[in-house]
Amino acid sequence: MQLTAPLDMHLHLRDGEMLENIAKSSACTFSGAIIMPNLVPPVSTKEDVIAYKQRIMAAVGEENFTPYMTIFFKPSYDKAFLESIKDEITAIKLYPAGITTNSEGGVSGFDVEELRPALTAMSQLNIPLCVHGETNGFVMDREAEFVSIYERLATAFPKLKIIMEHITTKESVAVLDRFENLYATITLHHLLITLDDVAGGMLKPHLFCKPIAKRPEDRSALLKVALEAHPKVMFGSDSAPHPRHAKEACGCAAGVFTAPIALQVLAELFAKENASIENLQAFISGNAQSIYAVTPPNKTVILEKKPFTVPSDYNGVVPMFADEEIAYSIKKTRITNDCK
Ligand code: DOR
Ligand code: ZN
Repeated sequence: MQLTAPLDMHLHLRDGEMLENIAKSSACTFSGAIIMPNLVPPVSTKEDVIAYKQRIMAAVGEENFTPYMTIFFKPSYDKAFLESIKDEITAIKLYPAGITTNSEGGVSGFDVEELRPALTAMSQLNIPLCVHGETNGFVMDREAEFVSIYERLATAFPKLKIIMEHITTKESVAVLDRFENLYATITLHHLLITLDDVAGGMLKPHLFCKPIAKRPEDRSALLKVALEAHPKVMFGSDSAPHPRHAKEACGCAAGVFTAPIALQVLAELFAKENASIENLQAFISGNAQSIYAVTPPNKTVILEKKPFTVPSDYNGVVPMFADEEIAYSIKKTRITNDCK
């Protein structure tokens, strides 16, 4: 099976030693990725984003990989600032305040008038808005409750491209078709697991993430639009590495690390569900290219149906399927070296 220019439209690469340890997990098999800005402090100035991109490129080394950079949304961004930073970024990421890892400086209240200057300027400059769509309500209802905020934003800013990040519910799938300017990313783990897999038996800290995996009918709704490569959905792994000690702890950090196995497991899933390679290609690259108007660097990934035992960790970060066998392996990537 051959895939061209895979894209990961939602990725956490972190910084420092972690960045150096994990960047190649993505750069090896993907042509590019939307890089999340939730560092400490968040990436929010032109200097920050240029310097962070340089650190990413240094960690990526020889690999042919484009980091599509983002900054952390603040209502105070004005048009002059956004014009000055436009060429350095592909999107801006909005977090509700305190909703997840390093999001304390995010938005509270979602008052359209407060957001209007920044979102109008983004809309005029054609900068997409990526949103972590959760309220601070009951954990299983947070995303469904946020749908009314998506509706409000999509109506108030009809020319703004709004990407509902890592959707996990049937309500989010349903709202996609009601507004022309709403799009979504879907992770690998939310296509595979429900809350039962996280907490139905022994607690699985490495499957704990935000938004939490939901009910079987939610997973089915996500699977349907992913497998049919609905043109408004694209793959975004939300691969979010944390060191083992931060996951296997009293107070487990949220995030599933899928970068090294994402493409192989997607290939397995699409094959198992009898979805076509064309649809997989659209889900992992074509749709994102159309939605974001990006042309990723050339990369061909050849996968083979050969069992691969997933390592127990990658430099101290435990991946999804650690120590388990997955059905597909990376045979080779043209332009790049072998991937481990
Ligand atoms: O599970 C998550 N981990 N969800 C997020 O929104 C953030 C991410 C992280 O940065 O660790
Ligand atoms: Zn994320």
